[in-house]
Amino acid sequence: MNLLVVGGGGREHAIIKKLKENPQVETIYALPGNGGIAADAVCVPEIGAKDIEKIVDFAKTHAVDFAVVAPDDPLALGCVDRLHEAGVPCFGPSAKAARIEASKVFAKNLMKRYGIPTARYEVFDDPAKALAYLRETASFPIVVKADGLALGKGVLIPQNLAEAEAAVKSIMEDKTFGDSGNEIVVEEFLTGPEVSVLAFTDGKSIVPMVSSMDHKRAGDGDTGLNTGGMGTVAPNPCYTPSIAAECMEKIFLPTLSAMRVEGCPFKGCLYFGLMLTPDGPKVIEYNCRFGDPETQVVLPLLKTDLLTVMRAVENETLGDLQVEWHSGAAACVILASGGYPGSYETGKEITLPQDLPANVTVYHAGDKPANGKLVTSGGRVLGVSATGDTLQAALRDAYAAAERIGFEGKYLRHDIGQRALRALEGGTW
Ligand code: AMP
Ligand code: GLY
Repeated sequence: MNLLVVGGGGREHAIIKKLKENPQVETIYALPGNGGIAADAVCVPEIGAKDIEKIVDFAKTHAVDFAVVAPDDPLALGCVDRLHEAGVPCFGPSAKAARIEASKVFAKNLMKRYGIPTARYEVFDDPAKALAYLRETASFPIVVKADGLALGKGVLIPQNLAEAEAAVKSIMEDKTFGDSGNEIVVEEFLTGPEVSVLAFTDGKSIVPMVSSMDHKRAGDGDTGLNTGGMGTVAPNPCYTPSIAAECMEKIFLPTLSAMRVEGCPFKGCLYFGLMLTPDGPKVIEYNCRFGDPETQVVLPLLKTDLLTVMRAVENETLGDLQVEWHSGAAACVILASGGYPGSYETGKEITLPQDLPANVTVYHAGDKPANGKLVTSGGRVLGVSATGDTLQAALRDAYAAAERIGFEGKYLRHDIGQRALRALEGGTW
């Protein structure tokens, strides 16, 4: 089989490595892919993840048997719809279903209409009304979210009225996130451990994957700016079997059926960003895709063949499949360019040891080839993942490998998994 994967980051590398385990797979094309992915797939750097028509043409002319659309932008732009029209089977939601991530207003209204637990909220399309609301009724901290996609940066948490006014101005008037800020959601600030649950769904059945925990802030101790994610661990020890059962009943199944009733059944990977509040689990956000870097700890623990699962999703036969997981744990430490998520330099040569242990995998997120070497080309450069019998073992091996990989300005957090370890020991969050 010839496969095509749209995207070019660490998440796509993890998907490609897992798909390659299937002996039926002959060639995997990555559009655009990246320098490190080129060791596992045929990369096509000329075709970007948002070049929908070029992607469809490529699939038709290269006898692609199955496509995986991984990032949010092409999903929201209807890449899966267009591939289906061209007769290419694929994994991922339609543009209509992708609104669950691409429009926070759609997602919040869906949750309200179908009684799915989430933070209380108001929607505004007029900055004057938003400001009046904040001045009259709001208590702080409060959460201000741009409606549309914003590279994971569209959520602001003002601590006081002045910061809230600045947030509204930045999103709605200065249009920091472009048209994504035409509407905003202002919502209640929730507290509690956060859990990421990625789930396979064919619109009828849902199979949650191993839970995970992201580390979104740039600095140790959860300080500094929000990033795309500086590291992950799986499973998430806060996500107990009884909480999982509660989420299935109150969140996962109701979301699936809500999307069906709304005429946009969700097929693909649905990501539930949950907060375990004192009032029970609540949805912080939905994503219409695999998380990055959650995928880099979740897929290494998948025992069942990934292509088989993805085809069952496409064929709507997921309910007939037994999806199995390895026991143990996984950890991923992101190596970023110094300065990320602010400005940073690129073009730094990467030194990768060739003798890393078998339980360690380096996923390439932001690099490119130059003179036969790999050089940095993005903020998040590499994800160093390790599996182990315990979370301690996985973290030890991921950090040991991360130490041995070099490039000028390499930046990493040193406390990935520490909160999870405290939770495992029964400590406070
Ligand atoms: P998002 O981009 O939606 O994942 O939001 C980024 C981060 O903002 C989340 O991971 C949470 O840590 C935080 N966040 C979002 N919504 C809320 C909320 N209602 N209460 C507290 N924190 C929130
Ligand atoms: N790691 C968070 C996300 O993929 O949205």
